[in-house]
Amino acid sequence: MGILEGKRILVTGVLTDASIAFSVAKLAQEEGATVVLTGFGRLSLVERIAKRLPEPAPVLELDVQNTDHLDTLADRVGEHLDGLDGVVHSIGFAPQTALGGNFLNTPWDDVATALQVSTYSFKSLAVACLPLMKEGGAVVGLDFDASKAWPVYDWMGVAKAGLESCSRYLARDLGKHNIRVNLVAAGPLRTMAAKSIPGFQEFEDSWPEKAPLGWDLADTLPTAKACVALMSDWFPATTGEIVHVDGGVHAIGS
Ligand SMILES: NC(=O)c1ccc[n+]([C@@H]2O[C@H](COP(=O)([O-])OP(=O)(O)OC[C@H]3O[C@@H](n4cnc5c(N)ncnc54)[C@H](O)[C@@H]3O)[C@@H](O)[C@H]2O)c1
Repeated sequence: MGILEGKRILVTGVLTDASIAFSVAKLAQEEGATVVLTGFGRLSLVERIAKRLPEPAPVLELDVQNTDHLDTLADRVGEHLDGLDGVVHSIGFAPQTALGGNFLNTPWDDVATALQVSTYSFKSLAVACLPLMKEGGAVVGLDFDASKAWPVYDWMGVAKAGLESCSRYLARDLGKHNIRVNLVAAGPLRTMAAKSIPGFQEFEDSWPEKAPLGWDLADTLPTAKACVALMSDWFPATTGEIVHVDGGVHAIGS
């Protein structure tokens, strides 16, 4: 029996089959879950990718900057599932001016977009799903270690620091519903989001060397495994936590 047997999971953030969210959705299904996806923008592309899952999954439209989409999300998910045991937030975006070494010159409007899509949306998504969430449920988000300043990551790094804090406050406020909130801090992975970061190559070059366990930039499975484990019943007393899936880089001085 899989560790998500009988669980109903909403997975956001599938764009391509390299997306971390695709790997999470696939593994969740393999572990027994029923999965519904949300997609942003290129919905026909997301629907095509969804057909590559072991079980084709319905795709609902969700732009986290669109309050209508958020307000109607629970009803739309409710057409497919009679409740939710898990929600995966795998969403991030920052305009080009907010990345790549332009930190001192990024205009506020672009910073605001990065924060709304990558940080505030963790709270928006959790609250939008709350009417369907069952006791013992879990919300999981995707983080990039924000405890230090990285080359080129710039305002996305600030957004991730906010995400880490947001996760702790959500854990505080959803605890009374017996809902856990945790993050998985992944090492660099070759996805669309990563490719859009000018200078991402710097991470690609150094990470596998620095990581005590080594690091495969094309393998999203270890990250997906952590997300699935956190949504299972095997972390019943863990919330407000950040699990690093980075080959161990966070633990090592340079
Ligand atoms: N790839 C990496 O190196 C890496 C490392 C650590 C954490 N992460 C995080 O993992 C998460 C998923 O990214 P990924 O690397 O799988 O890339 P990806 O490009 O496959 O996924 C990013 C997703 O964000 C979605 N998105 C962007 N704007 C949105 C909006 N307004 N509303 C709803 N969805 C929106 C995109 O449609 C896409 O599906 C992000 O939070 C990212 O920061 C990525």
